[in-house]
Amino acid sequence: MRGRLRERLKGVIPPESLSLVPRSYDIIGSRGKAVAIIEIPEELRPYEAEIAEAIMELHRSVKSVLAKESGRAGDYRLRRLRLIAGDPDTEVIHKEAGCLFKLDPMKVYFSPREATERGRIASKVAEGERILVMFSGVGPYPIRIAKLRGDVDITAVELNPDAHNYCVENIHLNRVEDKVHPILGDVRDVCPRLEGGFDRIVMPLPLGAYRFLDLAIPLLGEGGILHFYHWAREPSLFEEAERLISEAADRFDREAEIIDRIKVSQYSPRVWKVRVDARIL
Ligand SMILES: C[S@@+](CC[C@H](N)C(=O)[O-])C[C@H]1O[C@@H](n2cnc3c(N)ncnc32)[C@H](O)[C@@H]1O
Repeated sequence: MRGRLRERLKGVIPPESLSLVPRSYDIIGSRGKAVAIIEIPEELRPYEAEIAEAIMELHRSVKSVLAKESGRAGDYRLRRLRLIAGDPDTEVIHKEAGCLFKLDPMKVYFSPREATERGRIASKVAEGERILVMFSGVGPYPIRIAKLRGDVDITAVELNPDAHNYCVENIHLNRVEDKVHPILGDVRDVCPRLEGGFDRIVMPLPLGAYRFLDLAIPLLGEGGILHFYHWAREPSLFEEAERLISEAADRFDREAEIIDRIKVSQYSPRVWKVRVDARIL
């Protein structure tokens, strides 16, 4: 995809503006119907119709082109998206590693760029595990895990009713009803009512997951694994996340053994989304 859009727009927009055309954009959906999401710099606004047209020519599946109008904000981690061309119905079914995720990017958080990370988490799960996915969105983590493993019991908690409803639909679409149990609600209300002893808890809310560590730690059984996501700034990418986990474990007289740390994706030149995994003893 890199560079092809610029190539396509040669002769359509002024040569001095070509270098402003984004090198990449997201496509969510499948061969039948997809949406493209692109960041259009202010200077290119007069050419956005041509840009959208070029994207739809390059990708025949793309039926709607959305422009990013803001960063992600609010509890639901949504950004404002503006339809610049195509079908106003932006609900799609995204395919990822043999799973189907129905969603409308106007209403829910979803990033196709996190497919590899979801695969990494799913591959760590052993048969027989009982897992809690906090902040589960439309269900990509629980469903990837449930499709890969035969005997798992996954609780998925999500606050945004639209995301929860898609999660319920996606559980049926992927036929994992017996393995994934979705709950609509705030983890602050839901988690204290859950039975503890989880083998694994996933916390995919990089902006602020640390605020919920005190809910997660007591729900983990002895030796249970925590997957904690955090925004971190270079040069010490993992220090803060590790400290937050250890301090939270301390508060419950538990011990955190850090077992893995990875850079998941880059947000800006020095800021990364990181994941720190800890065994809670
Ligand atoms: C970064 S998104 C990740 C969604 C999903 N796990 C994924 O990977 O696509 C974080 C999600 O957490 C949800 N959320 C935020 N605060 C929450 C809370 N207090 N309780 C439950 N869910 C929450 C948001 O609505 C959003 O869908």
